[in-house]
Amino acid sequence: MHRHFKAKVVDNNFAAEAFKLITLSPVSEALVPLPGQFYMLESGRSTDPLLKRPFSVFRFNEGSLQFLYRIRGRGTTSIAGFNKGDLINVVGPLGKAYPEPDGRFMAVTGGVGIASLYSLLERNRGNSVLFYGARNAAELLYREEAEKLSAKAFFTTDDGSAGEQGLVTDKLSEFIKNEGKSMPVYACGPHPMLRKVAAIAKQNNLKCYVSLEEHMACGIGACLGCVVKAKSSVGDYGYKRVCKEGPVFDADEVLW
Ligand SMILES: Cc1cc2nc3c(=O)[nH]c(=O)nc-3n(C[C@H](O)[C@H](O)[C@H](O)COP(=O)(O)OP(=O)(O)OC[C@H]3O[C@@H](n4cnc5c(N)ncnc54)[C@H](O)[C@@H]3O)c2cc1C
Ligand code: FES
Repeated sequence: MHRHFKAKVVDNNFAAEAFKLITLSPVSEALVPLPGQFYMLESGRSTDPLLKRPFSVFRFNEGSLQFLYRIRGRGTTSIAGFNKGDLINVVGPLGKAYPEPDGRFMAVTGGVGIASLYSLLERNRGNSVLFYGARNAAELLYREEAEKLSAKAFFTTDDGSAGEQGLVTDKLSEFIKNEGKSMPVYACGPHPMLRKVAAIAKQNNLKCYVSLEEHMACGIGACLGCVVKAKSSVGDYGYKRVCKEGPVFDADEVLW
């Protein structure tokens, strides 16, 4: 089975303003992904934009793959224009998955980071304590579904339009102080949030896994376009490739 395949667009609908959910059906047999892995999706019908764009697998089953994405620039605008029935080129699954949790765990996400963690919650139904932050209520995508998959869920928004007003990391700290002293932490979201989550986990001696995002060109480890500074290195460089050694890293490996 190949990681390069064609997939048919089943639908590509708005999940909220500036966010879409695309459902793809591979036309040939495709490998089954694990939570945390990602795919490179063709981002244009011509050579512009030339490069595919990376997206975490949001949900999947035997016949379909779903990606939840924010429309940001040229690539995602172009992907947002795909219609039902279009055939697109896809590469994946790629990268390292989240280590399988051994019992209860904390999942921390900001914004569209839920796309990476959702299938982990689904696979470990009832075992997660979820901390989910967004700018406002509309951007708490799949809030109800994620809450149902979790043993407990805490929501925060910047403007207080849903959940508590404030930072998701404050909620995490508060919970760890009271109840979460022995659970590992899994996180995906904006870099400053991940840095804070990693620091909180370290202070509390908790294992922490983070899924990082970087600009990617090849997605398969060849161009070194996606490297991050890491404590233990590949070769002599002190860097790791997000597409190959990641996107999921032990937070202790990353030089924040
Ligand atoms: C492993 C991985 C998984 C991802 N999963 C998802 C996902 O599930 N859903 C989702 O919405 N997005 C995800 N992303 C981010 C997504 O790939 C980018 O938003 C997308 O490539 C932007 O392409 P564009 O051409 O629309 O934007 P561009 O025109 O390239 O850029 C628009 C703006 O977005 C910023 N940007 C672009 N790419 C990234 C990036 N990788 N990280 C941070 N900022 C970036 C640019 O600096 C610029 O400000 C993921 C990224 C990685 C590396
Ligand atoms: S994107 Fe080319 S090495 Fe990671």
